[in-house]
Amino acid sequence: MTLVSLAQATYVVAAVLFILSLAGLAKEDTAKRGNILGMIGMGLALAATVVLALEQSERSVLVTALLIAGVFLIGITVGMWRARTVEMTQMPELIAMLHSFVGLAAVLVGFNSYLEADHADAVHQVEVFLGVFIGAITFTGSIVAYLKLSAKMKSSPLTLPGRNLLNMGAVVVSLGLMGWFLTTGAFADDSAGLIPLIIMTIIALVLGFHLVAAIGGGDMPVVVSMLNSYSGWAAAAAGLMLENDLLIVTGALVGSSGAILSYIMCKAMNRAFLSVILGGFGATATAASSAGPQGDHREVKSPEAAELLAGARSVVIVPGYGMAVAKAQYPVAELVENLRSHGVEVRFGVHPVAGRLPGHMNVLLAEAKVPYDIVLEMDEINDDFPETDVVLVIGANDVVNPSAMEDPGSPLAGMPVLEVWNAKQCIVFKRSMATGYAGVQNPLFFRENTAMLFGDAKAQVEEIVTSLRTQQGVGA
Ligand code: TAP
Repeated sequence: MTLVSLAQATYVVAAVLFILSLAGLAKEDTAKRGNILGMIGMGLALAATVVLALEQSERSVLVTALLIAGVFLIGITVGMWRARTVEMTQMPELIAMLHSFVGLAAVLVGFNSYLEADHADAVHQVEVFLGVFIGAITFTGSIVAYLKLSAKMKSSPLTLPGRNLLNMGAVVVSLGLMGWFLTTGAFADDSAGLIPLIIMTIIALVLGFHLVAAIGGGDMPVVVSMLNSYSGWAAAAAGLMLENDLLIVTGALVGSSGAILSYIMCKAMNRAFLSVILGGFGATATAASSAGPQGDHREVKSPEAAELLAGARSVVIVPGYGMAVAKAQYPVAELVENLRSHGVEVRFGVHPVAGRLPGHMNVLLAEAKVPYDIVLEMDEINDDFPETDVVLVIGANDVVNPSAMEDPGSPLAGMPVLEVWNAKQCIVFKRSMATGYAGVQNPLFFRENTAMLFGDAKAQVEEIVTSLRTQQGVGA
């Protein structure tokens, strides 16, 4: 067996490991195994790629090896540094940034492939054109997502007049440029096709920016998964251009799983899948309901909250982004253990877009060793609120906002939410009366059965645990 065929066989093994990895990641109890399989697959893929590069390079083995080592060193240094320093709450923006790299890589591979390859091969020319198109959209779209997720750019939607026409126009012009590119490439052996390729790249860069800029804060979860999908297709296109089978398979896996996730997200948020792909959905709603406070709110302190909990039979905890910011999951797990050991039924209600990442809350709760079987999804718990004595809303805001159901003018209108206001008592943990990610005021805060518990969520939950222990005679 030659080294090349050994490397190709390793690619097949790596592709199978990636599929098994995805299957493992689908459930909490197999997620760790899924991650390990993915890492082994990536290790094998890298080793096989190095072997292929050394075998097929036109340069000397030493120069190729040094180039690869240099790239590895830079990648490993930056990757390890970011992985060590990134906060859990910064993960979404980091992922958006990584998606932008995939897009940029597809653009660069496309240009390189065009300049190096046979221009008369029409199939290859189409691969180059589409690869650069998808890559450029992914690149700028992901940068805008990064800026919005890290609050470096306003999360409100950019609503240019006739924006759907602008998007359609960009696609139609790009198709025309593809015709120009293909005919130029077929009849000339110089680089005449570069002109339509460059014009299309500029259009696609602007289109990527506009598609994501047009989407409002509350709808960003779908954008994150959609860009995940786009980055997969960009990688698959790069695989076609480089004639790398593993990159094609991996790109298709990421592309299709991202598309499925986007579809699930759309269903959870009651949005139309097609309008998401075209960009700008949710932008028709006005921001009128985001105006300041709407009435009087009631406040409680942690000892009163502890008393209320001690007297409750059933408690539901709704976690949100603020729990992640405060790293409150550990005292929350302690609180749950305490209440359950005193006969209180405690469950969690998790909204599909709570936090800033799909599954964000589930990861945090699993990290704090909260049992899986008491962590329920929105649909599983929503009917139980009327029989619930106390709901603790810990750092959640948009996902418990009744205006999503009651105010058709709200930017959140139509999104299903956790109907916590149907419980007997609701305590909202946050630091101020500020709005959530979508910038929409929350009428829940002014309901009669709602009380606000101001302060950092971690400190407040810790105080409640201490108060409970004192009341239970365990001591602080
Ligand atoms: P948000 O609506 O973002 O509300 C979080 C709340 O936590 C804020 O109102 C904030 O109020 C509070 N908070 C922040 N730090 C805190 C701390 N240290 N202690 C206590 N409270 C703190 O969160 P959510 O309800 O989880 O909703 C998620 C939002 O993010 C949705 O709009 C969703 O569409 C969007 N989004 C989600 C994703 C995914 S995939 N999940 C991706 C992108 C965007 P104070 O400042 O007053 O404390």
